[in-house]
Amino acid sequence: MSEEVPFVTSPDNVTLEMLRIAGVKEGDHVIDLGSGDGRIVITAARRFGATGLGVEIVPDLVERSLDSARKAGVADKVSFKVQDLFETDLSPASVVTMYLLPDVNLKLRPALLALKPGTRIVSHDWDMGDWKPDQTTVVDVPDKKVGREKSSRIHLWVVPARVQGLWCGTGAAAKWQVQLAQNFQQVQGTLSQGQRSQPITGRLHGTELQTQGAGAWMAAGEVLRAGGGNGLPAGATFKRANGTRCA
Ligand SMILES: C[S@@+](CC[C@H](N)C(=O)[O-])C[C@H]1O[C@@H](n2cnc3c(N)ncnc32)[C@H](O)[C@@H]1O
Repeated sequence: MSEEVPFVTSPDNVTLEMLRIAGVKEGDHVIDLGSGDGRIVITAARRFGATGLGVEIVPDLVERSLDSARKAGVADKVSFKVQDLFETDLSPASVVTMYLLPDVNLKLRPALLALKPGTRIVSHDWDMGDWKPDQTTVVDVPDKKVGREKSSRIHLWVVPARVQGLWCGTGAAAKWQVQLAQNFQQVQGTLSQGQRSQPITGRLHGTELQTQGAGAWMAAGEVLRAGGGNGLPAGATFKRANGTRCA
């Protein structure tokens, strides 16, 4: 276990904006990595009706968080654990929040990208390199004690579906295929029917692939449902190729 990030709290207005930008609501499960005094998870439960887990390496801060959760009346909705954030199972989260450091964010990135498509990730101040955020907002923090700026940046990423590869049309679209390359949320490739092919470009927002000219596609695991346009039969469905060619 290591303490890589010092304890600095997210001010209340930043905490609220982190939860707002992620669209936290009842039914969400928020995991705060390096939960400090527990404020993000407690606010997610008290103000937005979510459940939550805070993982924190400093035992005293976990004690303080548990005490605050009891006082806030949300002890049944949240839990806090003394745990290294790198050893935390993130799979139950629908929202992951963090106020860490750039290199820690980058180290976490593969585990975050592997989460269920549509999971929202929010980071106070620090980004994740070339995985560009879907949205960034700036909040005034007049008495900010770290850095030179008197404001905080709040970044949101929505884990993109994994659509890279060859997809083969089914049913009425049996003669079609689509080959996609993916760079985080950006997608480009080729949509083809026999000898005819056309480029396809788009951007993923979780499981939705919004394309230029071929409508909104939906990725559901091993199935890709096409949007309209570009001559595709309405509601065309593609399955991931079982190898390097479509049958
Ligand atoms: C900048 S504070 C953020 C606290 C809280 N999330 C907030 O935004 O108010 C980062 C927290 O991460 C904790 N931390 C540092 N390294 C950690 C690790 N490897 N595992 C779990 N927590 C860690 C620190 O003790 C500190 O409380």
